[in-house]
Amino acid sequence: MDLVESRICIVGATGGLGSEIARQCVGHGARVVLAGRNPTALERISQELACPSVRIDVAEPTSADQAIAEAVEILGGLDVVICATGTVAFGPVTELEDVILERLFVANVLGPVRVTRAAIGALTSGGVIVNISGIVADHPTAGMAAYSATKAALTAFDRAVAREVRRAGVRILDVRPPHTETGLATRPIAGVAPALPEGRVPREVARAIVDAVAAGATDVVF
Ligand SMILES: NC(=O)c1ccc[n+]([C@@H]2O[C@H](COP(=O)([O-])OP(=O)(O)OC[C@H]3O[C@@H](n4cnc5c(N)ncnc54)[C@H](OP(=O)(O)O)[C@@H]3O)[C@@H](O)[C@H]2O)c1
Repeated sequence: MDLVESRICIVGATGGLGSEIARQCVGHGARVVLAGRNPTALERISQELACPSVRIDVAEPTSADQAIAEAVEILGGLDVVICATGTVAFGPVTELEDVILERLFVANVLGPVRVTRAAIGALTSGGVIVNISGIVADHPTAGMAAYSATKAALTAFDRAVAREVRRAGVRILDVRPPHTETGLATRPIAGVAPALPEGRVPREVARAIVDAVAAGATDVVF
């Protein structure tokens, strides 16, 4: 897939991975709409990259549909939708309250599912949807049981929905990065991160994702 002039919407563009992916897509000559929740951070990345932005909060049931429709309006269509929303919680599941579990599953599963559903309706044949799962989908980790479950759920969703949309010519790319130094582990919604080895460099993980979009891949593991 040639990214030059391709029309890309990046959801979670205010995040560590989302912002790096956005920089690289712009660097490849793509036309990018940035979708994000935090208005100040969204304005900052929008100004840095000189890209239009739309608001999204994937916790709101209709927000993904609205944001994707606005991106279509701005770009005159969409070729790629990348969802980089997510959050993390640490600690044994017995220490995680319902409100934390719900926020985790909304940001990491329901959100990307809503974005994917909206994107399917917006993409034409040859389109690509990227969801960022995690290495814990394949290697569920104690102390991160609920987070691991969200990532396994998203990967299962990606594999199944890929079959639903294959005939329409839409490709699903499921990305499962290892620990990456975006700061995600330092701002959990509950608990404290265990001692982690030095993580991957966000720019390099983003490059692998953008390369995989261009290469026609359906899976990225590191
Ligand atoms: N970093 C890692 O080690 C690592 C490893 C494997 C997988 N991942 C996955 O990669 C994805 C991106 O993570 P990251 O490292 O870039 O973390 P990050 O820097 O914390 O970015 C997370 C992004 O998700 C957005 N978000 C969270 N809840 C949202 C909601 N309800 N509606 C809209 N946006 C929402 C945040 O928006 P705000 O700016 O508004 O908060 C932020 O832009 C996540 O799914 C994460 O689980 C990360």
